[in-house]
Amino acid sequence: MRTITLPPIATAAAWRDAARGLASAAVPPEAVDWRYGNAAPGLFDEAAAPPTAGRFTVPRAFVELAERVCWHSDPERFARLYGVLWRLRDQPGLIQDRGDPALAKLRQMEKSVGRDIHKMRAFLRFREVGDSSAPRRAFAAWFEPEHHIVEPNASFFQRRFGDMDWLIVTPDLSARFEAGQLTFEPGRPRPDIPEDATEALWTTYFRNIFNPARLKVKAMQAEMPKKYWKNMPEAREIPDLIASAEERALAMRAATPTQPPAYARAIKERPMPEQQPPAPDTLAALHEAARGCTRCDLYRNATQVVVGEGSTDAEMMFVGEQPGDQEDLAGRPFVGPAGRLFDEVVAEAGIDRSRTFVTNAVKHFKFAPRGKRRIHQRPDAGEIQACRWWLEAERRLVQPLLIVALGATAAESLTGTGKGILKRRGTVETAFENVPVFLTVHPSYLLRLPDADLKAQERERFRQDLAAAQAHLVELRAT
Ligand code: URA
Repeated sequence: MRTITLPPIATAAAWRDAARGLASAAVPPEAVDWRYGNAAPGLFDEAAAPPTAGRFTVPRAFVELAERVCWHSDPERFARLYGVLWRLRDQPGLIQDRGDPALAKLRQMEKSVGRDIHKMRAFLRFREVGDSSAPRRAFAAWFEPEHHIVEPNASFFQRRFGDMDWLIVTPDLSARFEAGQLTFEPGRPRPDIPEDATEALWTTYFRNIFNPARLKVKAMQAEMPKKYWKNMPEAREIPDLIASAEERALAMRAATPTQPPAYARAIKERPMPEQQPPAPDTLAALHEAARGCTRCDLYRNATQVVVGEGSTDAEMMFVGEQPGDQEDLAGRPFVGPAGRLFDEVVAEAGIDRSRTFVTNAVKHFKFAPRGKRRIHQRPDAGEIQACRWWLEAERRLVQPLLIVALGATAAESLTGTGKGILKRRGTVETAFENVPVFLTVHPSYLLRLPDADLKAQERERFRQDLAAAQAHLVELRAT
């Protein structure tokens, strides 16, 4: 009896070499004891030196099959493979035989390994473990595969995450990619990898791609089997999403009008208040319904809808254009560079932002991808018009005494035209049910000015505008 112990790294290549040597030396399957693990010295070497006489050719399809099956967790996998290889010596046509039970079993194992490889690519979740400002960011992940697939999958992660350092730990084997070098080390029990900010991002993303109207629990569990849930942050949301699906689907149906056909754009842009479903009567319900908004196409590429936030009984309501890159990821309005500038100038103008309500004319981020960046695109008239329904619903629930339109898009949504905003700034017009609208520029206009002196002057004008809006509010309170 020959004992062949195959190593946990480069297993498939080691099996191939050993099997080739054994078969060409005419060692029958029953005379081989296949093992897996770290070999005691000498045992493996004995079979690894293949005799040169008696070589035979193996069909390419079998080589590929063996390459996959070697990663299966069945302890009998090497013996099963060698059994078929042995028969192929005399029956090269065997590889085509769909009815051969031994071969059929190997094909089944091959499929199972393929599925496991795919699941690992889909469900492995990295958490950031290093300094996020370091030139090479560092991530770690814990995964529990069904088969020994860390090694055959490592090149996929290496290609996909080549610009960062990462460690994938499994109970069986770990893969480490550091400074461009891939190495393997023994597996270990689950390490304690602290949660990071990407957990929240995954969760938000998952909540937003989850369509309650399309819920099919069985199909979902077939695609994302329960055993993977415990290592996936977004899976924590599943019970709640399933439980609230019916209610959310009803809210979506109530809040979402049918998409008009593409040729009817002009009709879509025409306000038809009598055909609108009634808006939910709390901000929370309105914002929940907005998650399912498909009134225009912008929901398709945005991460999530970004609705207004702030005091629900605010007297002053600010309306910007649309969420930017950072707002789209965070799910909150005015938190990126324009938002920071806005906060500073609002405070300098003596306004307490927390007592206002801040929202946008358009609730989804419109952008054009350029490499890894997403470049802001101005919403068009149809998108502004489609989103006006949400703005009006927010306005009706908050009931501000004064709205401040920040820039041309907000002015267009609120007053019907965004033209000539620089000439109209500082003036008061009206929107919706005659609510006064104070017009000014958008803070990102200041960010775009190239000249530092001009920027400082414009910032001061913006501050004066906001102070004037605040003074106007005081007058409105008195009337
Ligand atoms: N610009 C906007 O108009 N709104 C935001 O929320 C962010 C940037």
